[in-house]
Amino acid sequence: MKVWFIGIKGAVATTILVGVLAIKRGLSAPNGILSEEKRFSRLNLARLEDLQFGGHDIRGVTLYDAAYRNVSDNSTFDTMQLAELKGEIDSIPVKCGIVNNCGDAISSLCDNNTLTLSKAVNQVSQELCQFAGDDSCVVVNLASTEPYFAPQPEYATLDSFEAAVKANSKKIPASAIYAYCAIKNGLPYVNFTPSMGNDIPAIKELANTLGVPHCGKDGKTGETLVKTALVPMFKHRHLTIDGWYGSNILGNLDGQILRHPDNKQSKLITKTSVLPRMLGYEPHLGSRIDYFPPLSDHKVAWDFISFKGFLGHRMNMQFTWQGCDSILAAPLVIDLIRFMELAQRNGARGLVDPLAVYFKDPLDIDVLDLCSQYTLFNEWIEQF
Ligand SMILES: NC(=O)c1ccc[n+]([C@@H]2O[C@H](COP(=O)([O-])OP(=O)(O)OC[C@H]3O[C@@H](n4cnc5c(N)ncnc54)[C@H](O)[C@@H]3O)[C@@H](O)[C@H]2O)c1
Repeated sequence: MKVWFIGIKGAVATTILVGVLAIKRGLSAPNGILSEEKRFSRLNLARLEDLQFGGHDIRGVTLYDAAYRNVSDNSTFDTMQLAELKGEIDSIPVKCGIVNNCGDAISSLCDNNTLTLSKAVNQVSQELCQFAGDDSCVVVNLASTEPYFAPQPEYATLDSFEAAVKANSKKIPASAIYAYCAIKNGLPYVNFTPSMGNDIPAIKELANTLGVPHCGKDGKTGETLVKTALVPMFKHRHLTIDGWYGSNILGNLDGQILRHPDNKQSKLITKTSVLPRMLGYEPHLGSRIDYFPPLSDHKVAWDFISFKGFLGHRMNMQFTWQGCDSILAAPLVIDLIRFMELAQRNGARGLVDPLAVYFKDPLDIDVLDLCSQYTLFNEWIEQF
């Protein structure tokens, strides 16, 4: 089975590549991967050792050097052992990605790339099809977070989207082009980022028409994972949340991109929208994301929750989450790849909403609390 990563030289993608190759060589155990549980063995999910990778990226660094920098900066894998994997990493096909309407923060990572949207569609489609051939192939967006785009008439239908592509619209970012190309060519698509990707009516329409499974958006790996586990507790005890303030610091390339206000806005939307949706009312919300280089990929989130109960008495809860972002994300992406292939094999068409449990801002579904999402996922699995 094949896997195409958009953003293959990034921290999450290289952690997956190194992890899967290391597990294949017996250098590491498949820890922390839900889809490795015995109960899934009857489903014939893709075996880790059978995954073949390829991807797009826009930075000139070699894939091996990007992987080396990631694991050495974060001490997530032994660099001597990494050297044993060099041959396999060097043989992974990597194509130069597109940066249409990605904003300055992302465009500055790459050398000049001035394709029109129509040419970008042709190029990306051709590269995806050449890689996939006749095999099963899942496309996963792991690229840097793009600036936020508010809903536009161009996104409303497939016709308006395709007309906007022809007209080289400034409102269609690269992530939507990648999603369009994957789905148009029948390849299941996962948006692990807060970028637009598949989150517009035109692309959902295309996926429904062609019967291609897709899901997103923005992987739920840290602070939001805790939020969606805690909110039901407050609700069940009738404790009213007056305010929730969350402050995040991270020092990786993702953090560097999120320093830019337009890119940050995309992430803040997926991070904060979940609370009012779960609570059914709007508490006072505050959310910060700051770039703090010494942490590299080790993110720290500090959350302060103000709530009140009997007699309106006010109380507080605080928590600090310290996680290694890519180590948390990699197993989720591995699960998503396997479950998307399962979905396609079993005729799923369009949005695969039982996979909502993997996302901060799951598309078109109101099941947001973690336990209910797991129940939904388990019920979905049981039908196969
Ligand atoms: N790590 C986590 O826990 C986590 C959780 C949820 C979401 N995400 C999202 O996943 C994405 C990847 O995270 P990361 O930490 O690996 O980021 P990263 O910055 O390390 O990697 C992103 C990669 O994408 C490449 N890229 C940027 N624009 C591109 C384009 N248009 N086409 C092709 N490649 C492009 C960059 O060169 C870089 O190699 C980010 O959007 C992040 O917000 C990560």
